Amino acid sequence: MEDAGFDRAQAAALARQVGLDFGAALTVALAYIGDRLGLFKLMAAGEALTAQQIAQRAGLNERYIREWASTMAAAGYLDYRAADETFRMTREQAMVLNREDNTYFTGGAFQYAVACYRQIGGLMDAFRAGGGVPFSAFGSEIIEAIERLFHAGYEAWVADQWIPAAPELKAKLDAGAEVAEVGCGAGQCIVPVAAAFPNSRFTGYDVDAASIARARAKAAHAGIGHRLVFEHAAAENIPAADRFDLVMAFNCIHDMAHPRAALSTIRRALKPGGILLWSEADASDRLEDNLTPIGRTMYGASTMHCMTVSLANGGEGLGAVIGEGLARELAREAGFAGFERLPVKNPYHQLFAVRK
Ligand SMILES: C[S@@+](CC[C@H](N)C(=O)[O-])C[C@H]1O[C@@H](n2cnc3c(N)ncnc32)[C@H](O)[C@@H]1O
Repeated sequence: MEDAGFDRAQAAALARQVGLDFGAALTVALAYIGDRLGLFKLMAAGEALTAQQIAQRAGLNERYIREWASTMAAAGYLDYRAADETFRMTREQAMVLNREDNTYFTGGAFQYAVACYRQIGGLMDAFRAGGGVPFSAFGSEIIEAIERLFHAGYEAWVADQWIPAAPELKAKLDAGAEVAEVGCGAGQCIVPVAAAFPNSRFTGYDVDAASIARARAKAAHAGIGHRLVFEHAAAENIPAADRFDLVMAFNCIHDMAHPRAALSTIRRALKPGGILLWSEADASDRLEDNLTPIGRTMYGASTMHCMTVSLANGGEGLGAVIGEGLARELAREAGFAGFERLPVKNPYHQLFAVRK
């Protein structure tokens, strides 16, 4: 029975959307399998292959591969040619799904989503009782997922666009500066930035020991271990005072249990005239402006990961959706003298230069 005033068209449109979301959720899980079992890698050369050939080369079960490849073709992740029943990955599909060295690559998203799904029991407990799911519970996959989501962007943007956007910074780093990154994760940003500025010295801080271990290995591999050290420390506990010309904090202040204390410590660790470069997802302060497809990704990641890891540590649970207004307010409260949103165009981040 339908109530008077029931809008059939609206209900039908929402049901269609939920149906699409349902298919998208299943596609994400199966794309994760393609990523983890090396199927995207195997297809990346662009060769047209039958399901049987894919299965043989991968050493996997053919029946599963046929169903998997059909899902991927229906999703637009692979092309299908009916004439010879082959599947093929185009160059563009390979850029997005396989080639980790470019900013179109989004393979880390499948890994991130599945790592979050795995914690859904703990998350529901937190909905009931408060608290959260600690970062460490998400395991090594979340560290790798975040690294894979962001490293190509940091390699492309930070040294070439973000640091030069605050003109005096580039000159300082070229000449030789003291630089820190807080919440450095697996070193996805600080390692390429350190490589780009050979006269400067770098210190990466993260509260997660497994991330720091991965970052150290990455720096050693890049051969810059002598200019780049890592410390297993929370941003709010950095002991240094008046030491750094630049502190970078990308996509991490909102994850922190005590972001206000962290900002205040960062201010103290900066030299007079030093700058905090701070990025957050490009969101508005107003919920009504964020009711978009990208907004749902931000609030979704925040609920399932960013906010819950902060609340798990008795933290503030700021959440991943921070607009310029709140960032400005937090910087002011921490005692910073200047705050400016830098005019960099970016598909994901908004970038603030905050002066001591
Ligand atoms: C979403 S990840 C971002 C990593 C990296 N900055 C990036 O953008 O790819 C957030 C990172 O902040 C770290 N973190 C959380 N709280 C922290 C704190 N209080 N001090 C330092 N790092 C912290 C986490 O361990 C994690 O590595």
